Amino acid sequence: MEVKIKVNHKNITDNIPADLLLIDFLRKHGFYSVKRGCDTANCGLCTVLIADEPVLSCAVLTARANGSHITTLEGMQKEAEVFGSFMADEGAEQCGFCSPGFIMSVLAMEKEFEKKGITNPSEDQINKYLSGNLCRCTGYMSHTRAIMKYLKRAGGLK
Ligand code: FES
Ligand code: FES
Repeated sequence: MEVKIKVNHKNITDNIPADLLLIDFLRKHGFYSVKRGCDTANCGLCTVLIADEPVLSCAVLTARANGSHITTLEGMQKEAEVFGSFMADEGAEQCGFCSPGFIMSVLAMEKEFEKKGITNPSEDQINKYLSGNLCRCTGYMSHTRAIMKYLKRAGGLK
């Protein structure tokens, strides 16, 4: 079947098998930040945004994304760099394997908090939002510190 999908503002038209997963479509087109960590919709590593909403691309058929706009980490380099510096300062990047999915979810969470007018989220709200992103190295304390500081930075949540 033919699909037309915009990825990071670039139009892509492709003929795909009906059972092609979105993660495989994205990697086929060179978006290698999208990685497979589990294949059971458990680790969050394959997170991308469809119309600004985070989804697990290992659990979505490409056909379902037909006509939509997808954002991957490659399309959020500037925002990712800013957050990445907070992660580095807090020692929240060890092997770095979880980082792409984690960064996508944090940036989506920030947008959602802004939409809902949440200017001072609690650790509990943050942890609930990110419960689908697994990290096998850090124990999450450094992640939480980095996120709290990132959201409170000058120009952060308003
Ligand atoms: S690869 Fe998609 S959730 Fe793990
Ligand atoms: S830093 Fe290694 S999995 Fe998160």
